[in-house]
Amino acid sequence: MINSEEKLYVAHSDHPLVLEPKMANRHGLIAGATGTGKTVSLQVLAESFSDLGVPCFMADMKGDLSGVYKAGELTKFIAKRQEQFGVTFEFQPYPTQFFDVYGEQGHPMRVTIKDFGVLLFSRIMSLTDTQEGVLNAVFRICEDKNMPLDDLKDLRAALNYIGQNAKEFQTEYGNISSVSVGSIQRNLLALEEQGGNQFFGLPEFDIDDFFSVEKMNGIKKGMINILAADKLYNNPKLYSAFLMWLLTTIYNKLPEVGDMDKPKFIFFFDEAHLLFDDASKALMEQIEKVVRLIRSKGVGVYFITQNPMDIPENVLGQLGNKIQHALRAFTPKDQKAVKAVAQSFRANESFDTEKALLELETGEALISFLDEKGAPTIVERAKMLCPQGQIGPITEEERRTAIKESGLEKKYGETVERESAYEMLIKESEKKKKEEEERRAQELAEKEEAKRKKEEEKEAKAKAKKSASSSTTWYGKALTSIAKTLGNKLVNEVIKKMK
Ligand SMILES: Nc1ncnc2c1ncn2[C@@H]1O[C@H](COP(=O)(O)OP(=O)(O)OP(=O)(O)O)[C@@H](O)[C@H]1O
Ligand SMILES: [Mg+2]
Repeated sequence: MINSEEKLYVAHSDHPLVLEPKMANRHGLIAGATGTGKTVSLQVLAESFSDLGVPCFMADMKGDLSGVYKAGELTKFIAKRQEQFGVTFEFQPYPTQFFDVYGEQGHPMRVTIKDFGVLLFSRIMSLTDTQEGVLNAVFRICEDKNMPLDDLKDLRAALNYIGQNAKEFQTEYGNISSVSVGSIQRNLLALEEQGGNQFFGLPEFDIDDFFSVEKMNGIKKGMINILAADKLYNNPKLYSAFLMWLLTTIYNKLPEVGDMDKPKFIFFFDEAHLLFDDASKALMEQIEKVVRLIRSKGVGVYFITQNPMDIPENVLGQLGNKIQHALRAFTPKDQKAVKAVAQSFRANESFDTEKALLELETGEALISFLDEKGAPTIVERAKMLCPQGQIGPITEEERRTAIKESGLEKKYGETVERESAYEMLIKESEKKKKEEEERRAQELAEKEEAKRKKEEEKEAKAKAKKSASSSTTWYGKALTSIAKTLGNKLVNEVIKKMK
């Protein structure tokens, strides 16, 4: 909900608590144990941003965020809060677009292998540094050879080709060991099993589609983009790499804007701990960098997680707006975490932060937002407002209607196949095969010709010999007898003279 000053009215202590729109790009955190109200708080924030005309993106873990598509209904819980706060919630639907990497519960979101990039790839495939180096070389070779890497079969074909011709590329691109190529190929198999075939390819998702604004009841509302993540969540590496790719794409697309009256876009990162679980140093640096720099592009990133300690310190330190729901303290480790979380707030003299953290009811939270000057406000114990959209999921049929009516189905519904590395390498190998066949045929023809010539020569020689020996028989004999007669005559003459 937004108040008369166009500020985000999201919670109430004994007075309304508002989030300053111009501080909304200083990022935020929604934390709390399971069932304490994190998802509903996320919905309240997203609806308020939409009311302000700011589009947002969120990953929906259990399908329960889909409710924003429909107007909510009055419940006892909500009626009580209306009374406590002295406000009336106008139940209303919000402009919603559904996406799904697997294309089942929303428009497919595809990305080409090339645009996804080596870093995120090596993250989802847990590649070693050497393997990542080989993958990097494969990407560069394909780039230099103008072979688009669109989908997994392109990457597979490129790996095969480069692996088989490794020597040819070695000087320019470094060592490409067949062992590394082999293990990348095995990893690709696992990725295919995780649904990589649906995810990588064309048409590529156009980030502009996130930024739409729709007029509803005469007010321009920001689009709420929901990614169905229940299936994706079971492939945590793909989930975190995909969201990281989205964030980086938004970052690369938007220009620097500095401080603005309100953000351009809000990105909600649910189950945020997945992003950091066994992330490589390079990926961790990338996350930190994007979170730090995306602020000046007018984008706010909100992390949602059970325990704030799941988020690395230098990311946590950048999250200015905090909604902390109840924590549980069953183990010494939990108790330590509760202490640390309590200490991260500016204390409020009217209550004990640490104690309050353990007492908070569902939909109640400790809240500290950044004030107009960017300083964190003193922590307040407050009840969250209720969503104006429905709490909980919509039906399958309602989802189908939303998908059909969104206007994006035509753009993303069908996969597009163009001539890319796979097709080009098939063509090249067919060309090579044909050339090899032609070369062999030529070689054979030449051999036959040589054989034929040799036989001809042999025949000619034999003929010549034959004719030579037959000529010796008649004039040879004649010559011998002539010589003989002449010889006898000569000898007789000499004898006569001697006598
Ligand atoms: N602000 C609120 N207004 C109305 N109802 C709320 C509010 N916050 C929480 N609730 C109620 O509490 C229930 C649980 O809240 P929610 O699903 O947000 O918890 P959660 O912390 O996201 O849990 P989990 O960790 O299991 O995902 C909701 O289904 C809703 O009925
Ligand atoms: Mg939840």
